Amino acid sequence: METKRVAVIGGGVIGLSVAWRTAAAGHDVTLIDPSPGRGASWVAGGMLAPVAEAWPGEEAALALGEESLRRWPEFAQALAADGGDPALSTHGTVVAALDRGDAGQLTVLAEYLGKVGRAVEQVTGRRLRTLEPGVSARSALLVPGDLAVDNRRLLRSLRAAASRRGVRFVDDHATDVGTGLVRTGSGEVTCDVAVIAAGARSGGLHPRLAVRPLKGEILRLRARRTSLPPPTRTVRAVAEGRPVYLVPREDGELVLGATQYEAGFDETVSARGVRELLEAAARLFPSIDEYELVETAAGLRAASVDTLPFIGELEDGVFAATGHHRNGLLMAPVTADAFVAWLGGGKPPAEVEAAHPDRLGGQ
Ligand code: GLY
Repeated sequence: METKRVAVIGGGVIGLSVAWRTAAAGHDVTLIDPSPGRGASWVAGGMLAPVAEAWPGEEAALALGEESLRRWPEFAQALAADGGDPALSTHGTVVAALDRGDAGQLTVLAEYLGKVGRAVEQVTGRRLRTLEPGVSARSALLVPGDLAVDNRRLLRSLRAAASRRGVRFVDDHATDVGTGLVRTGSGEVTCDVAVIAAGARSGGLHPRLAVRPLKGEILRLRARRTSLPPPTRTVRAVAEGRPVYLVPREDGELVLGATQYEAGFDETVSARGVRELLEAAARLFPSIDEYELVETAAGLRAASVDTLPFIGELEDGVFAATGHHRNGLLMAPVTADAFVAWLGGGKPPAEVEAAHPDRLGGQ
């Protein structure tokens, strides 16, 4: 195999995963980011839930998400050997309906998933309470195959694994990307292949990348000695039209996410965001009122118009790996594997074809 010089722009979960996997495959990789391992990936909840978050009309995203989900256990195992265990949780996901309106939406989701052949079990609120004693809902769907990961452990592990595999880190912003060359604030990196994985800021690096920031706020909480422990499974619901989810961590923390606003590049945490999240979470899991509030944080998802990412060649030697919308952590393995295939002259996973940057007709 020919060794290629690869410049990856962006050190979030996608950039780090592409850098680690392509370096492990024998390529000469440089990663450019002023603070790798931070950004939106640092703020995430860690849901790997293509089925729980599926919706009619988004079949290509479901197929791509599920293909990546299938790759997650092997990805996590390889990462544990190379950089550290990312704490993949296999307890599954619950989609909960809080009221009659939500229950209607849940039925739409259950019927849709049945039609596309995904096995989910619809249960009453009473049955859910036997599985998750603190969770209060009218009805729920059990989605045992959806996973979750500790995003911060994942990012630390990816940095360590990438370093171990020889990735060079350039702690700087990329200012200009073209065939064979990436300019940074303080110098330049020559390469055979440049990969734009700069999340919400990718749009500023290539005119064909229609990516916009979609702000999300999360809260991190911790149970006190006297309060009910967090649920075992990830719990997702929609409260007053807004998605809310609780993702338990191995260390006893609970991540509560996430708001969703079009707010440009604003990364401040708003009082309204915190209030909305806590109000919704307290309906779903009333014991949260007793928890210690450990942290509030905001990040910018890289959103695309059709919710699919951009994965593929933009121009000679310049590739996109961005626009993963609400699914960056989920889609990291399939995205990284696509690059390993392209660089090695192989065929990428078939589901990646739907994410080609050309699909929007030159936008
Ligand atoms: N995947 C959940 C979110 O983006 O909030």
